[in-house]
Amino acid sequence: MPSLPQTLSARIQAVIGVDPELRPATKPQFGHYQCNAALRLAADQGRKPREIALEIIEALDLDDLCEPLEIAGPGFINIRLRTDVLAQTVTGQLADPLAGIEQVERPATVILDYSAPNVAKPMHVGNLRSTIIGDCLVRVLRARGDRVIAQNHIGDWGTQFGMLVEQILVEGIDATTLTLDTSVELYKRAQEHFRTDESFAAAARARVVALQSGDELTRKIWQTLIDVSKAGFNRAYARLGVLLTDADLAGESMYNPMLDQVTADLIDTGIATVDAGALCVFLPGDDTPLIVRKSDGGYGYAATDLAAIRYRIDTLHADRIIYVVGSPQAHHFSQVFAAARLAGWLPDSVDVEHVGFGSVLGADGKMFKTRDGKAVTLDSLLDAAEEVAVPEVAIAAVKYADLSNSLHKDYVFDVARMTATTGDTGPYLQYAHARVSQILRRAGADGDLVNDESALITALAEPAEQALALALIRFPQVVAEVADDLQPHKLCGYLFELATHLSVFYEQCPVLHSDERQSRLVLCRATQKVLACGLDLLGIHAPQSM
Ligand code: ARG
Repeated sequence: MPSLPQTLSARIQAVIGVDPELRPATKPQFGHYQCNAALRLAADQGRKPREIALEIIEALDLDDLCEPLEIAGPGFINIRLRTDVLAQTVTGQLADPLAGIEQVERPATVILDYSAPNVAKPMHVGNLRSTIIGDCLVRVLRARGDRVIAQNHIGDWGTQFGMLVEQILVEGIDATTLTLDTSVELYKRAQEHFRTDESFAAAARARVVALQSGDELTRKIWQTLIDVSKAGFNRAYARLGVLLTDADLAGESMYNPMLDQVTADLIDTGIATVDAGALCVFLPGDDTPLIVRKSDGGYGYAATDLAAIRYRIDTLHADRIIYVVGSPQAHHFSQVFAAARLAGWLPDSVDVEHVGFGSVLGADGKMFKTRDGKAVTLDSLLDAAEEVAVPEVAIAAVKYADLSNSLHKDYVFDVARMTATTGDTGPYLQYAHARVSQILRRAGADGDLVNDESALITALAEPAEQALALALIRFPQVVAEVADDLQPHKLCGYLFELATHLSVFYEQCPVLHSDERQSRLVLCRATQKVLACGLDLLGIHAPQSM
């Protein structure tokens, strides 16, 4: 069942033959929506817009939804929903705030590749942003009815494990005693060792071969390193309150057994050729080739991503594959997608999208650094936010800052601004939810709790009530739009607008001490539900009080 605005739009389109492009009315006295189609049609047909507008409203029969339509100015059609229809639609959102979201006939299988931190490396800001954005997209896509398979493509394979394992053996460390933090320190020592000691470097290279050929001791230590890092990732996920679990792990090493076949197929079909010892795919219009196998015989990041595409399509039956990875990897993904297309592994029916995102900057406009000048880790960012706010609010602040701008833009990590309870922030939305919850609680204490079953909105006469109701019924459409175009900032913008309508409503319409008390409480309840549902889709906790 489509939402009310969509029904209205579809009914008009059926009569006039073009998208009516309904816009919110610019002033309450003009009704709720405005349709400019007559002006566009008139220009096409060389006729007078008012004449066409008149024909349109005569042909339309919308009495079951709207007040009589009106023509204004040069030929605008003003549309006002019937109050009972508006009230009924809002009441329907009490049971399901997303009632009316456009359901797809067959749920699409969507692969969402996000988070993807690297073993024995600190989780960097890119992993943080990817985790937060990916988590929001999972929630939004699931709300729309898609079947989402999260794939946490962790970096758990590569030549660096040769030197890591070798360093552990040289130092005689019990790998099980490591943590993500201490393994990062170990990594640094191993790198230094590799750089300065030729015999260690040789041993580390031999260790890579041992790892690849499945040497038992080497594999065991490698696996321990992964387990240690996984525990660290999970601590970060718990701190962020995201949905990822171990069941979503599908790291680079998983594709290892598939890489020989991937290269063999690319060679057989003539798509990959050897250039200066490396196996490369040269793509039209691209100066740099995609390197599938390095000249030393090792497989790299690209080979793994090609194998992953095949696996996701052939085994997981993806209809859509989404990669939430920082914008600097845009070229990598465009090459991988192009190569997969050439190889015939990526049919046109499958959508692949790289959802890139910008960097987090410090107040000085440069890459964000911690106070002691180190690169920022996820923990240091969250610690900074928690210095000024309780954890729930701090996390909301960070997530909202991450989601509320166009993803591709860099944003400044300004803790004071992000955690403010006024303005376009996560804490402001939490506060809006807490405040409406408080009103409902107070009403309940009076022995007059809103009963969702018998709830009824009877009064919607005030413009502020109508504006709030109109905002509420837009919610399902906004969520559907984000599920399509993967731009969470639209949901943030919507919720901010809703919270603003709510505060105008408070100013202009008394709730508890009013003749319309019962009806307004129901409107409050519906707003509380939509805010809570919207915040949940952003991965933000909706508090009862603040
Ligand atoms: N581990 C990579 C990094 O930290 C991100 C991996 C993204 N996913 C992928 N399929 N390549 O930059």
